[in-house]
Amino acid sequence: MLATLGAQQGNAAFMDPSRTKQRGNPSLIRKVLRVARPCWPHLAGISLLCLLSTPMTLLAPLPLKIAVDSVLGTHALPVWLQRLPWPPRWLMAANGGLVICATLLVAIAVLNCLQSLLSWLLSTYTGEKLVHDFRGQLLFHAQRLSLSVHDRRGANDIAYRIQYDAPAIQNLFLQGMVPILSSAFTFVAMLAVTMRMSWRIASIAAILSPVLFVLARNSSRSVRQRYDEVRELDSSAMLVLHEALSCLRAVKAFGQEAYEDELFRRKSRQRMAEQVRLASIQAGFHVLIGFCVAIAAAVALVMGVTEVRQQTMTVGEFLLVMAYMAQLYEPLRTISTKVPELQSSMASLHRAFALLEETPELEDKPMAAKRLRTRGEVEFRNVSFQYTAGGRSVLNNISFHVRPGMRVGVVGPSGSGKSTLVNLLTRFYDPTDGSILIDGTDLREYNLTDLRQQFSIVLQEPMLFSTTVAGNIAYADPQASRAEVVRASKLANAHEFIERLPQGYDTPVGEGAAALSGGERQRLAIARAFLKSTPLLILDEPTSAVDLRTEQLIMEALDKLMAGRTAFMIAHRLSTLERCDAVLVLQNGSLQTITSTVDDAKRHLLATSGPRSVDMQTPGPVLVRYEK
Ligand SMILES: Nc1ncnc2c1ncn2[C@@H]1O[C@H](COP(=O)(O)OP(=O)(O)O)[C@@H](O)[C@H]1O
Ligand SMILES: [Mg+2]
Repeated sequence: MLATLGAQQGNAAFMDPSRTKQRGNPSLIRKVLRVARPCWPHLAGISLLCLLSTPMTLLAPLPLKIAVDSVLGTHALPVWLQRLPWPPRWLMAANGGLVICATLLVAIAVLNCLQSLLSWLLSTYTGEKLVHDFRGQLLFHAQRLSLSVHDRRGANDIAYRIQYDAPAIQNLFLQGMVPILSSAFTFVAMLAVTMRMSWRIASIAAILSPVLFVLARNSSRSVRQRYDEVRELDSSAMLVLHEALSCLRAVKAFGQEAYEDELFRRKSRQRMAEQVRLASIQAGFHVLIGFCVAIAAAVALVMGVTEVRQQTMTVGEFLLVMAYMAQLYEPLRTISTKVPELQSSMASLHRAFALLEETPELEDKPMAAKRLRTRGEVEFRNVSFQYTAGGRSVLNNISFHVRPGMRVGVVGPSGSGKSTLVNLLTRFYDPTDGSILIDGTDLREYNLTDLRQQFSIVLQEPMLFSTTVAGNIAYADPQASRAEVVRASKLANAHEFIERLPQGYDTPVGEGAAALSGGERQRLAIARAFLKSTPLLILDEPTSAVDLRTEQLIMEALDKLMAGRTAFMIAHRLSTLERCDAVLVLQNGSLQTITSTVDDAKRHLLATSGPRSVDMQTPGPVLVRYEK
């Protein structure tokens, strides 16, 4: 159930209409080039090395030609070869020519190896650097997008873009542009050399090349399309996998392993079929090229032998040309396979850039007033809120005023908008209507970082990172000393159980912190809040996931934590709100009433929310000013 829901969300993100239309357009290339700017010198170096490979390729069959013509045959050694500074003994000796040919062969091979070694190392470095930089930039940006963008896209989709789409930038340059460039250069150079030896054979090559290009272009379109489909299926299979594993408890509890298996297998099977279809298109294309090349080679063979018989070409030249004919299509083959690959890299990059183009929705006001510590006075003025534009109203016209240091309880049935209310306080979202003020200043006037520095938040499900216990507590303030961490833990009633852990404060807390109980994790989160001493405190159902005895420990810690701060505490168990100064009663996004004791709130809730017969039309805006 969970997984299907997630998969649908994931697919919805893939179907955003913007992604299909602007693939491979010049603006994308411009953006890619801008991201790759720090690597331009490296890329230029790689291109240069690749261009050097052309003369290497051309020289490779040369020793054979010279050996056949000048050592076996009667031709003199080429003049340029005689001019090289060989030891005079070699030129005189009977087998001197042969030794020279062998030396030449080794020298060319060594140069070739050196060239590929250099270009290999430089390509690897550059490719990795490109990916490293780009991923870093994507994560930087993703973390600064507003939560509503994350709600819409989903964590899996964003992670996929960073992890699997970003490396396409490396493919684009190193497996795409550079080989295509050097192949084109090699092709032209080979054609020119062949032309000098036999214009007829050269013209066969020249005639065939446009045919190959047309084939390449036609195949690229269908390959690209299929490749996109494979990517999407791959990503949605990943989503199922990820959810099945991260929600394993739920899967096991509901005995839905077989369902998740089937879901994954179905996605995975589809992907497999697509991949095979993609391969068959590519393979078909390869066969076609191979066939064309073979025909051309056969024609060249016949023509070459004829020319040698007519003595318009030497045997060595014939061998050289045939060697080129065998290699001539290599560059064309490279180009024809690289072009579709380039397209799929472009598709991936488009997806990655789509993330980069999401503008952070909560832009800081350029002239944001800087205030380091607020007093903690909070006012909601006619606040309404919808998560999606035009969607259902989650909060309706809410107004209240909280003096510094007040403890405010928030109660109401689940889904009534309690969490949403406090999410607006930290500007995780902005109200659709109305305004929220802290110390009389609109939230939007504050610098976002400053604003969030005013809050400590303890949620129902504490978020722990995979580091040590101490590291998790110090997440609020990485500079905190061990003594400060211990003091915070003591205040949070966490010190004792931490001491009992195998490595105390240095015990690693794994992903999801399965080794700690819910109550223990919650107390770590509270210790974290103690460390970050802030004027405002938000507690969103901090005890609803723990048993009653643990609740006692946590409430004790929370009592200390709330002292001297303005605190908003959302609670299911009304008993935990006994020491609140005021209780907001929410229902269906409307502020029903504000009571000064939890008993009144309880009475109100009992009276209204039992049966769903509460008249939701009557309550208008409620503005209550509280004087203690
Ligand atoms: N990120 C979100 N996107 C869209 N709707 C949401 C989101 N979070 C909550 N909602 C909806 O807003 C309503 C209020 O949710 P919430 O504030 O979490 O309620 P409570 O905390 O009182 O249980 C619910 O109907 C919920 O479905
Ligand atoms: Mg909630």
